[in-house]
Amino acid sequence: MSEKFFLILVFLSFSTAIEWKFPADFKFGVATAAYQIEGGWNADGKGTSIWDTLGHNRSILVKDRSNGDIACDSYHKWEEDVQMVKNLGVDTYRFSVAWTRILPEGYATRVNQPGVDYYNKLINKLIENGIEPVVTLYHWDLPQVFSPLGGWTNPVVVPHFANYARKAFELFGDRVKTWITINEPRLICNEYKGLVGDITEDFPLGVSEYLCAKNVLKAHAEAYHIYDKEFRKTQKGKISITLDMTWSEPATNNPEDVKAAEQNRQFDFGIYTNPIFNYDYPKIVIDRVANRSQMENFPQSRLPQLTTAEKLKIRGTYDFLGINHYITLYSKAANEPPFSKPSFKADAGGERFRDENWKGGAANWIKLVPWGLRNLLKWIKVNYRNPEIIITENGTADDGSDFLEDDERIEYYREYLNATLQAIIQDGVNVKGYMAWSLMDNYEWTNGYTLRFGLYHVNFTDSNRTRTPKKSVKFFKSLTSTKTIP
Ligand code: BGC
Repeated sequence: MSEKFFLILVFLSFSTAIEWKFPADFKFGVATAAYQIEGGWNADGKGTSIWDTLGHNRSILVKDRSNGDIACDSYHKWEEDVQMVKNLGVDTYRFSVAWTRILPEGYATRVNQPGVDYYNKLINKLIENGIEPVVTLYHWDLPQVFSPLGGWTNPVVVPHFANYARKAFELFGDRVKTWITINEPRLICNEYKGLVGDITEDFPLGVSEYLCAKNVLKAHAEAYHIYDKEFRKTQKGKISITLDMTWSEPATNNPEDVKAAEQNRQFDFGIYTNPIFNYDYPKIVIDRVANRSQMENFPQSRLPQLTTAEKLKIRGTYDFLGINHYITLYSKAANEPPFSKPSFKADAGGERFRDENWKGGAANWIKLVPWGLRNLLKWIKVNYRNPEIIITENGTADDGSDFLEDDERIEYYREYLNATLQAIIQDGVNVKGYMAWSLMDNYEWTNGYTLRFGLYHVNFTDSNRTRTPKKSVKFFKSLTSTKTIP
């Protein structure tokens, strides 16, 4: 046998040995969030959240001046929605509980039974249809009562969140086996809209982000320990947090750029992952905020320290890592920003940009950069001892102009699923699930109804909120039935 022929044979047997398929226990899903789909903002005794208030009093902050009062009307159309989930052939459905639907005052003083009934019906119907519910406790709809207190910057929220979490475990934990405490703390903490809703543009940025981060970490840890001590033994589920994880890629191989990228990662998400997966805030975050605070004449760091007891309590509070991934950015070393005004962005440093050649969709911040997800997954494996990962959100938006012909979405999913598969098969990353954002078009926060992330189209001008499958539904059905990328 000639050497060339032999090599071809080796290559062929090797390439057929690797099956380009998701593992049998890999779970596909779709995701939504309460305020974005439910509507029924004051139905049957629901209390007010900061997003209700923002939508009513300050819709000027929203691109199309809309609100989520009705949204997809999933509060009434939940049965149809379960059928849509079922039609996709997915294993899981991730949705969030609206805190004020079950505890209208925000405090665990009074349970609103119709709100509980709503989630019970939804959960039962999902299970009846062979779909596993994955429940997020907090997807940004803070009870309004905490807003004048400074929202998540005030530690008073921590015990109230813990009480709410306990209630949710008590009420639904016999059937819900995967819990996510808090969705995307960075988005909550780094924008006053997410923190307190409508009150002010004069939020003390450069200070509030760190106060919030500490409280979110503590709230997450409280909920984790409540589950661990009081419920895990009987309910046998798992619980963690979901972070939005932007991938920062060094703009060049220059060590300064490599350093800038790592610094950006630590400020973006290390501030949450390091205390949970390792111990304390990342050193670079501690040092930079301390140094910049000093230069700005603060008597102490703007980053409030975690006490030893707090660090120990937060450490290890994960059964997996939930990641929402949409964005890759290049990072480049830059001159130290001036010390004129406290700023999180200045603390994080570096210069960040996108490659103009990256293909984009209707949302200008989302570009097609699948290798960014793969690099991120590898980074998590290396830095946090290869934890179980569930991709709890990934997707792209259209603006409705192509109506149901969402070929760009199909391309996006194909590429990102392929990157996920490469990470699993070639890099040995422990990814166990992938959830598409989103089941259907919905209220995209301050972009209102101008951006559509759904596999299903929703007609928001029709009082029925008619849902129609886009082309990507077919793609997803083929994905879930074959576990291979169509
Ligand atoms: C959020 C979703 C949002 C999506 C698209 C994520 O940050 O969790 O609520 O709709 O991104 O912007």
